[in-house]
Amino acid sequence: MWEWLLHFMPGWCPALPGVLQLPHSCFKLEDVSLKTYYGSLCSWFYDIDKPFAPKKELDFYLSYAREGMSVLEPMCGSGRFLVEFVKRGFNIDGFDISSEMINRCKTKIEGIGNGAEIVCCDFSTYHTEKLYDCIYIAAYSFSLFTEDIEIRLILTKLRDLIKPGGKILLGVLTDLDFRNNDMEDGVWKDDNPRIVKEDDVEIILRSTTCYDRFKSATISRMTYELYEKGVFIKHEDEDFCIKRYRNGEFEKLITETGLVIENTCIDFEKSEHHVEDTGAMVYVLT
Ligand SMILES: C[S@@+](CC[C@H](N)C(=O)[O-])C[C@H]1O[C@@H](n2cnc3c(N)ncnc32)[C@H](O)[C@@H]1O
Repeated sequence: MWEWLLHFMPGWCPALPGVLQLPHSCFKLEDVSLKTYYGSLCSWFYDIDKPFAPKKELDFYLSYAREGMSVLEPMCGSGRFLVEFVKRGFNIDGFDISSEMINRCKTKIEGIGNGAEIVCCDFSTYHTEKLYDCIYIAAYSFSLFTEDIEIRLILTKLRDLIKPGGKILLGVLTDLDFRNNDMEDGVWKDDNPRIVKEDDVEIILRSTTCYDRFKSATISRMTYELYEKGVFIKHEDEDFCIKRYRNGEFEKLITETGLVIENTCIDFEKSEHHVEDTGAMVYVLT
């Protein structure tokens, strides 16, 4: 049931039964800075944990790309998808808010990048004169935007970046796992710690997650601990907020923006969407 989340967050894993409980008043989504993702340890962890683009998801995006098309990957991270487009000769640009992720991305395409413009930038301030035939946002990253006003702004930006007839491909997460009160509102639960290793380095990720039913979003407080040859070196804290869309909620926002839904599926194999109990939705917008 939680499998799709593992593709999304660095090292996300299901919560253990109630470990830490705070009163709901302690939890305020507004308190969380949305601009603190993917620092150096988080980016390192992500690259060790998810070095390559998952084939089905990559094939999904590639199936919409044709020779000569201009492609944009917002929130490209360290470029595991983008590098595959570059290798295939596509004219692709990318941007991401994290300088650590962008530096890793630039390193990956060094020597093979065919003029790709890779920019460190917040989505809300991204600007280019170019228009694109295909824009994809991988790994359900669109769900990192939790506020309606921000979601509308980003959808409007996407609308303005796409050529007439061009395609926008993105996935979002739904509230499926929270509909049956499995995770109580405002209660923090510790997630299973995760460890990645590279040579003498070990990074441990500890996190605790809480659900805000009113906003239909989760917040996870993550701590990355770096060890070299078993000796603790430093730690880094990150907050992740993830929007869990209710049935019909995202469709309404899309329509308000003037974008058109060409297709919806429940996975990257283009399985048809005819059930409401899906943990994720994938959209083709135009
Ligand atoms: C789940 S990662 C996905 C990275 C990449 N697409 C991949 O699949 O490997 C989400 C990415 O979104 C970026 N991000 C988060 N908020 C952003 C924002 N406001 N503007 C631009 N990028 C953002 C993060 O820095 C991170 O690299």
